[in-house]
Amino acid sequence: MMICAFVDDYINKKLIPSDSTLEQVQESNKQAGLPNINVSSTHGKLLYLLAKLKGAENILEIGTLGGYSSIWMARALSETGKLYTLEFNPDFAKIAEQNFQLAGYQDKVEVIVGNALDTLPILEEKKLLFDLIFIDADKVNYPHYLKWSLKLANPGALIIADNVVRDGNIIDELSDDVHTKGLQQFMDLLVNNPAIDSTAIQTVGNKGYDGFMIGIVK
Ligand code: SAH
Ligand code: DHB
Ligand code: MG
Repeated sequence: MMICAFVDDYINKKLIPSDSTLEQVQESNKQAGLPNINVSSTHGKLLYLLAKLKGAENILEIGTLGGYSSIWMARALSETGKLYTLEFNPDFAKIAEQNFQLAGYQDKVEVIVGNALDTLPILEEKKLLFDLIFIDADKVNYPHYLKWSLKLANPGALIIADNVVRDGNIIDELSDDVHTKGLQQFMDLLVNNPAIDSTAIQTVGNKGYDGFMIGIVK
């Protein structure tokens, strides 16, 4: 195991109190056979802290899986705040809904099942706007998710995207991997984009080497 995984354990022990709800969620996801691709606890807590810093009232997540990251972010919401999360796989969405019930968030969190490219227009029709958008679904469609996020963002909204480094594959200009190509196009859309001020941070830990794009909508 890499040293950064041990350091992640250390940070967990020191700074992230054990939490029976999130532990149960992890366990249900494992039992249900969900892929182990949720954010780590240290990064889940970072999402929570950023949502809190932003004072986010409305949060959008693209890519629910079992709702682990959703629960972290929903914890930063006020009494009246709401989180919408989009999931393509109805089996995953069902597990996520059970987890939201377990966390007591059945009224605070809404899962919208379907291809995000088809369900994002529903949010637009409802005239919903968001203070924080977390992009974490299929990497091929990240360029579309960025365009939609800019459309659905309040001024000053925070946009965060997971997996923008992918073990360093992002810099492989000759890559023929569709996911990497999607992420590269996503990054290209951010360069000199007058609508958003952005950076990316590399993330390491018990989930390997990856990165978050973090941007603020102008
Ligand atoms: N945010 C989650 C992890 C999401 S994994 C967490 O950290 O806990 C990515 C999810 O995106 C998977 O559940 C996958 O089914 C979903 N997904 C993939 N393509 C999608 C699409 N086109 N529309 C909506 N969801 C999609
Ligand atoms: C994958 C997706 C993710 O969102 C992630 O954080 C890690 C892996 C994947 O599709 O392999
Ligand atoms: Mg991810």
